[in-house]
This record gives sequence, structure tokens and C-alpha cells, in this order.
Amino acid sequence: MRFSPFVQRISGHGVAAWDIHHAAFDAQREGQDVIILSIGDPDFATPGFITDAAVAALRGGDTHYADLPGRPKLRQAIAARYSAKLGRPVAMDNVIAVAGAQNALFVASLCLLQAGDEVVVLDPMYVTYEATLKASGATVVRATCDADSGFRLNAANLQSAITERTRAIFLSNPNNPTGVVLNRDELQVIADLAIAHDLWVVVDEVYESLCYEREHQSLASLPGMETRCVVVGSLSKSHAMTGWRMGWLVGNADLIGHAENLSLSMLYGLPGFVMEGALAAVLAHDEVTQGMRDIYRRRCDLVVAKLSECPGIRVLRPDAGMFVLVDVRGTGLTSLDFAWRLYRETGVSVLDAAAFGEPAQGFVRLSFTLGEEKLVQACERIAGFCEKLA
Ligand SMILES: Cc1ncc(COP(=O)(O)O)c(C=O)c1O
Repeated sequence: MRFSPFVQRISGHGVAAWDIHHAAFDAQREGQDVIILSIGDPDFATPGFITDAAVAALRGGDTHYADLPGRPKLRQAIAARYSAKLGRPVAMDNVIAVAGAQNALFVASLCLLQAGDEVVVLDPMYVTYEATLKASGATVVRATCDADSGFRLNAANLQSAITERTRAIFLSNPNNPTGVVLNRDELQVIADLAIAHDLWVVVDEVYESLCYEREHQSLASLPGMETRCVVVGSLSKSHAMTGWRMGWLVGNADLIGHAENLSLSMLYGLPGFVMEGALAAVLAHDEVTQGMRDIYRRRCDLVVAKLSECPGIRVLRPDAGMFVLVDVRGTGLTSLDFAWRLYRETGVSVLDAAAFGEPAQGFVRLSFTLGEEKLVQACERIAGFCEKLA
């Protein structure tokens, strides 16, 4: 039987990147001694009051179809948070609740892009972007952020990636895997180019609450971004709610209307009880995220300090997020070989960061989504492995 070419577009390079993670996950299920640092799934439980709100809703019979773009009180709560964050009014009509940031990216891709378009991404980029963007039929053009500059924005590369076919720029800020948070000047470069070339900008801010150095500034807060900038957000990382599949798009009301039509044919809305939990989470955003940020910052310091002592590798301190990139070029191994040998010889699973883009060739990505004791153990195993290599 024949499939549509769509199936090729959604199966890509990014899918194979998870092989090492799946191997480690299976081994862990069989009771083997592995330490999984290959995924960004917070180890904390979702805060109890959020779960309680969802359970109460379930018990109260909230098990029917719910408002397609999300319950008004949830959309209003999200809008209120973004009004404060962006420093301009954001209304409920500018918000749609969807099934996680990943779903939001997919919806944006299908609503904004079509075959023949080009979409520029900052490279390295989160692994699922390639399939998500190609699903629309558009061609993905990568604007390199070089390892030598610490993977910061390269304005010249971004500018030269834009052609008359370009329709949009997609980026994550903070970035996964690099942990880079763009500063005001870098955001301005993107905003200026978007205005000059009349482009959409979709900015994925799932790690916004995990900025360690300074408060996160949204690209959408810059002048001229009101109608063309679309923000992707989620509770997955900020509230330890990856399994709830709860995220949103914030953007111009026309786009939100189209997204609602797409949601009708794809999801038929989100579960009401999930939205009740989400409402409790959004209303307590600062209280929840501050505690989590402090824990991640401590873990980040710990991992950076421990791995800084290892021979042959160099740790890049992230500005934000739950990952650290490690330059393994000094070991003489490719990052793929390093990741697989490390896993086979020590049971520690990390991701070959080259899966996120060529500029990250020679780097591996570790997550710090485990407690400090486990992280120390993992770092000791990595140190032993590096010493053996040296
Ligand atoms: C940059 C980025 N965007 C989106 C996602 C997906 O988030 P969600 O669970 O909200 O779909 C992830 C998950 O790792 C991510 O790192």
C-alpha cells in the first residue's frame, strides 16, 4: 500500500537521535544500572495542588468535550500573564491552549507555511523542529550559530539565510540544546530582519522560567512584534508537567482563529480536567517556578563544576534550561561514538548533540533532571570514562 509523501517529511534525522535514550530506557526497565541524562523530563512530581485541581474536576464529572480553543478562564489567565510579561495588552483571543509546545509548533507550522516556502531556523535547533516544519511542505534553512562563539546568534548568517521565499523564522529562546538565552541586541536583530522581510517569527519559550543569569525577555515584547511574533509556551518544563500535554500559542487573533480550526480537525480540544489543573498551575506560575529554578541552578553548578575537572572535555555553562553541552572533541572520539561508548561502558546515557544540527558536532548533551546524588554518580562515571580515554 502507498503512503503520502507526508510520511517521509515527518520521519527524519531527529527520530534516530533517540536510539540511545530508548536503549537506556529499556535497560532501566529491565533493572539494569543505568543513569539517564538523555531527556529533559523533570524528575519532580507535578505540585500536589495542581494534581488536586485536576482530580477534583475528574471526580466532579469534568469528562466531556470542552471548549475547543481552551476554557475561557484558562485562556484569560494565560493572557494576563503575557500582558504582564510583554508589557502590552494580550487578550483571550490571542491565546489558544493546545497539547503541549510540540503541538503548538506543529499548529504554527501548518498555519503559517506551505510547500515552496522557506523557513529559517537557528542551528542547532531542537530535534523535532525538522519534521514539524517539513510537515508543512516548507524547506528548512539553517542559520548557523557557531560553537566558537558559544552558539550565540550570528546576525550575518541569519541575514544571508533569508531569501524572497522565506516566510518565517522559528527559534527556541532559551535554546535547547545550547542553553543560550538571546540578549536584547540579539532579539533586536531578529525583530529588525522579520520586519524588513515581512516574516513571521515563532519563538518557543518553553524554558523561559529557567533562566539563571537574568530575567527572560520575550521577543514578542519588542516594538513591531505584536502581529508577527507568535509565542509557544508550555507547562511541561516549568511545572514538571510533561505528561499533561498542556501548552499554548500566543499570537495575533487571526492566527489563533486558524489554529482553532486546525485543532477542531486534529484534537477536538483538550480534556477539561487537564485544563483545570493547568489553570491552577498558570495562576501560581511564579511560586512554582522559582523553587524549581533554584534547584536546577544548583544542579547546573554541580554538574559544571564536576565535569570541568575531567580530562579531554570542556563544559559549556548554559544561561538557562535543564541541559549542559559538553565538548568532547578533545577525546578524539566523535560525539556519537563518545555517547555510545559512554553508555555501554558506564551506563550513563547522553545525547549526541550533532542530532540537533551540524554546528553541535563534537558535543554531547546532558540533562540535569535527576537529583544531586545521582548527578554526582553520573559525573564520576563520566570522569572515569574520560580518564580511561586520556
Ligand atoms: C525547545 C523545546 N520545545 C518544545 C518541547 C516540547 O515541549 P512540550 O512537552 O510542551 O510539548 C521541548 C521538549 O523537550 C523542547 O525542548
